[in-house]
Amino acid sequence: MMRQAGRYLPEYRAIREKADFLTLCKTPELAAEVTLQPVRLVGVDAAILFADILLPLEAMGAELVFAKGDGPTFPHPVRTRQDIDRLRVPDVEESLGYVFNALRLVRRELDGQVPVIGFGGTPWTLAAYLVEGSGSKDYGHLLAWSYEDPAGLAVLLDRIADTSIAYLKGQIAAGAQALQLFDTWGGLLSLERWRALALPPLRKIADAIRGTVPLIYYVNGGGHLLEGMRDLPVDVLSVDWRVPLSKVRQVVGDRVLQGNFDPAALLGPIPEIERLVARVLEEGKGGGHIMNLGHGILPRTPVDHARAFVNAVKRSGG
Ligand code: CP3
Repeated sequence: MMRQAGRYLPEYRAIREKADFLTLCKTPELAAEVTLQPVRLVGVDAAILFADILLPLEAMGAELVFAKGDGPTFPHPVRTRQDIDRLRVPDVEESLGYVFNALRLVRRELDGQVPVIGFGGTPWTLAAYLVEGSGSKDYGHLLAWSYEDPAGLAVLLDRIADTSIAYLKGQIAAGAQALQLFDTWGGLLSLERWRALALPPLRKIADAIRGTVPLIYYVNGGGHLLEGMRDLPVDVLSVDWRVPLSKVRQVVGDRVLQGNFDPAALLGPIPEIERLVARVLEEGKGGGHIMNLGHGILPRTPVDHARAFVNAVKRSGG
């Protein structure tokens, strides 16, 4: 489940009461502990490293703040070519070694019970936060830059790609057995503009990772991007809940898919969750399918509903 380690779990909230979010990410023992919680409490088939996609941007030199209740902010957004000069491709062992240490701890604790998935953001999605300075309704600064000076924005995206490659390779060296790239804001772009702007740095990362561990590409709100995703050199295409998997398959063919259970459905009654699990599994037939949510689990999800989802999938033999 996406965001399987997080606020819907009382055990996570108990740890968060004692440590702020960045401290949690940067303390390997705590990060490892919350990574393992959903494996023990909900019974998922894989651990997902506890970290955040924005951490490598901080390592590049951008100040990152998680203020209480507000989500992430960058007090000094990057909006011009001069701003890009403030950002370096960091030595990841030095600046992000805490992530790798957490991964090593998780692998040791799990001792092979389930695999561990590492992750990163795509350059386009990371730039969305860095340029805007926070989450946004319309991403106006980012989109303005993409029309005013696409070549300048491409310099930023390429620098983020180089950082991501070093970061993801560090995760593999520390024991990540698969990697997921989150393109939360890829769906802002038309297919043509996704190909022109988001794809080149994404392809650079995929080419660098190919042949190491399985790579999963996730895009939110990307039903119109399926034609572009079909040609991506990744192992798994992960989609949200908006388009049924049978329709996704009509475009991408026999690619391995991941998703696409609506996370909001976990708020509904358990018999309905079970019915919808069966339906998504049925839709996913005709090629490889990894059951997952179509986006992050909602913080108000009851834990027994998350467990019912996992159990229903397991009972199906999937
Ligand atoms: O279990 C897991 O999936 C592992 C951990 C994980 C987190 N963030 C922890 C987190 C993962 C994979 C992410 C990815 C991430 N982070 C994405 C891509 C996925 C997506 O949801 O689209 C994005 C866009 C971010 C950036 C980010 N981090 C935002 C916008 C926020 C604030 C919104 C929110 O949900 O609070 C965060 C905070 C964050 N990252 C939390 C967690 C558990 C909540 C922090 C808290 O405990 O208060």
